[in-house]
Amino acid sequence: LQISELPTPCLLVDLDLLDSNIRKMAEFCRSRKCGLRPHAKAHKSPLVARKQLDAGAIGLCCQTLEEAEAMILNGVRPVLLTHMLASDTAILRFLNLRRHGDIATTVDGLENARVLANGALHRGLSVDVLVEVNVGHNRTGIEPREPAARLAAEITRLGGLRFRGIMGYEGHLQLSTPEFPKRKAAVHSALQGLTGTLDALERQGLQAEVVTAGGTGTYNITAEYPGVTDIQPGSYVTMDHRYNLIETAGSDFGNALTVLATVVSTPKPDEAVVDLGWKAASVEFAMFGWEGMPRPRLDGISYRVAGDEHGILKSDSPTHRPRVGDRIRFIPSHCDTTLNLHGKFYGVRGDEVELVCPIARR
Ligand SMILES: Cc1ncc(COP(=O)(O)O)c(C=O)c1O
Repeated sequence: LQISELPTPCLLVDLDLLDSNIRKMAEFCRSRKCGLRPHAKAHKSPLVARKQLDAGAIGLCCQTLEEAEAMILNGVRPVLLTHMLASDTAILRFLNLRRHGDIATTVDGLENARVLANGALHRGLSVDVLVEVNVGHNRTGIEPREPAARLAAEITRLGGLRFRGIMGYEGHLQLSTPEFPKRKAAVHSALQGLTGTLDALERQGLQAEVVTAGGTGTYNITAEYPGVTDIQPGSYVTMDHRYNLIETAGSDFGNALTVLATVVSTPKPDEAVVDLGWKAASVEFAMFGWEGMPRPRLDGISYRVAGDEHGILKSDSPTHRPRVGDRIRFIPSHCDTTLNLHGKFYGVRGDEVELVCPIARR
C-alpha cells in the first residue's frame, strides 16, 4: 500500500523518525545515568511502548486507566499511573488491573490513599505509590517538603501500600520559556521542591527510591538534576510543531507524526481549501495565544482552521497555489491531542505504508 492510496485526513507516523527519536532519548538518558520512563499519553500504543522498553526504558507512564489497561493487558509493564484515582470505581478498576501486572500510582492526599490502601488490603495486594509533589505547576500534587513527607509517613503506616518515592512534574516550564538558559534556571528552582522533600523525608526516617519528573521540554535539564532518578517525557516520540519552537529540545527530535490531507477546492486566487479541520488536528494551543495551527510541510503556505472538516491554505504568491487533489502533510501543533482524535495511524517508511496501528483506548 502506498501513502498516495490512503483516504484523508489520516495520521502518518514516519517509522524511521520514530525509531530515531526513541533511540536518541534512550541514549541521552543512559549517558546521564538517569532512568527513562516515557509517557504513553503521547502515543497510546503498546507497539510504541514496546519499542521504548526495548531501547532501555525502565517502564511507562500513563495518564488514564484506559491507557494503563491498554499497556498492562498487552504485556507492557511496569506502568506508573500519573493521575489521581478519585472515585471508588476508579480505585476498584485500578486494583483489578494490579492483579494483571506491575502498576503503581501517584497520590497527593491521605483520604484517597486510605481508600486505596483498604481496597488493596481487602484483596491481599500490595500497591506501590509515589507521592506527587507540586513543584509549581499548580495542578495536582501536595506541597513540597514537610507536607509531602508527612503524607509519605502516613502512607507507610496504612498497610496495603508501599511508599516508593516522589513525583514532581514541572509541566508549566515545558513550553513557556523558549530560551534554554532561562528555562534551565526556572527548572532548577522548581526542582528544589523535590530535593527539599528528600531532606524532609529523611527527617521522617524515609527514603525515596524513585524521584521522577520531567517532560520533553525539560528532559536535558531534569535528567541532570541531582537526586532525580528518572524522567518521563512523552511528546519527544512524535514531536509537536509547538515543541519545535523551543531551544534544544525543539531541534533534538524529528516530527514523526503528520496528518495527511487533500486539497478539495481553490475558490480564491491565493487560497486553497483542505479536508483538515479541528476534527483531524487539534488547535487548542491557540487558546493560550500560542502557535496553535498545524504546520503544512510546504514552503510559502500557511494554514488556518475553518471548521470541523475544513482548513484554509494561504499562499505567499498566486503562482504557488496548491491544486485540487494535491496531498499535503501537516505537522500538528500538539501531537498528543491530535492522535486522540484518530482511531489508527499508518506507520510509513518512504512512500510505503508498512503497518496500520490501532490507537488504543481513546
Ligand atoms: C505527569 C506528566 N508527566 C509527563 C508528561 C510528558 O510531557 P511531554 O509530553 O511534554 O513530554 C506529561 C504531559 O502532560 C504529564 O502530565
